[in-house]
Amino acid sequence: MSQYRSVIKGSGAYLPKKIVSNEDLSTLVDTSDEWIYARTGIRRRHIAADDEMTSDLARMAAQEALNNAKVDPSEVDMIVLATTTPDSTFPATAARVQAQLGITKGAAFDIQAVCAGFVYALGVADNFIRLGQASTVLVIGAETYSRILDWTDRSTSVLFGDGAGALVVQTEPANGDAGERGILSTHLHTDGRFYDLLYVDGGPSSTQTTGHLRMQGPEVFRHAVSKLAGVVEEALDANNLTIEDIDWLVPHQANKRIIDGTAKKLGLPSERVILTVQDHANTSAASIPLALAQGVKDGRIKPGQIVLCEAIGGGLSWGSAIIRW
Ligand code: ACO
Repeated sequence: MSQYRSVIKGSGAYLPKKIVSNEDLSTLVDTSDEWIYARTGIRRRHIAADDEMTSDLARMAAQEALNNAKVDPSEVDMIVLATTTPDSTFPATAARVQAQLGITKGAAFDIQAVCAGFVYALGVADNFIRLGQASTVLVIGAETYSRILDWTDRSTSVLFGDGAGALVVQTEPANGDAGERGILSTHLHTDGRFYDLLYVDGGPSSTQTTGHLRMQGPEVFRHAVSKLAGVVEEALDANNLTIEDIDWLVPHQANKRIIDGTAKKLGLPSERVILTVQDHANTSAASIPLALAQGVKDGRIKPGQIVLCEAIGGGLSWGSAIIRW
């Protein structure tokens, strides 16, 4: 067992000002509010302004998380930023965020695990802290999916939105006492055989273009519920917990039907699920930290409670994190 644990000290969120409703989208493609809401639970999404980049969204969320944590940027010695929509192919978007926050020490890098990115980033941060190699980590999920959508494709363009969320995670001594706060576990998985179910048809080494998101929606749906329920069971077993011990499920917000299906499979009542998909749509790596920040802000998530996060996305990659908040 490590002598350190990773404690959540603060959360932050940022959503671009522009809101696009389902009705707005029905003027662009052949769709309707009824179809989108019935199939996904989505009503609206935020879309970044032309001059807003992923780093801008990330910085705003990170600043709010630092303020809420009462942590000065000079204390941060690592930034782990999960994104699939970086400002540039390189350097890492995290490097730009680091400079914008006036941080000059430690490491800053991006994680690319699509919609599972935030859980991956949390796992990386937790392991650095447990090893004593980082003490104050900004874990950010930030996306501008509006830039990689094919706005003429109704089967994908209605599903996604832009936004960012962040956590400040800090080291504390681990004494092994019951009820100690911190990240209890992360579990990460990838099965690259499903690469083509959800991908972007461009990239620097293939087409030298940015490309657009392509998805076999029903196939992704089929994998999502079973893989998410599986990774949750794995996490509960590893911590000797049962679903009754979970105060809040904070899932990746891709689709309300996937969330409802997973909660039902696990036997978790909907009152213990934090849902933001109706207002944010799928913000990929940003969806979990946005939902966490929402739950903290409205008083649902309280210190000491057990919070379970799970996500699946392109790769396919999926994972879970259990946190005693
Ligand atoms: N508006 C109206 N009709 C539409 C739209 C739309 N926006 N999109 C598709 N349709 C039509 C299709 O053309 C099809 O018509 P047809 O029967 O005449 O051919 C019909 O609706 C049914 O299409 P399906 O794709 O079978 O619809 P389904 O019920 O599977 O719902 C959806 C589609 C919502 C994409 C669903 O498959 C889904 O949620 N999949 C999971 C996708 C997901 O969440 N991905 C993200 C996870 S990973 C990540 O976050 C990156």
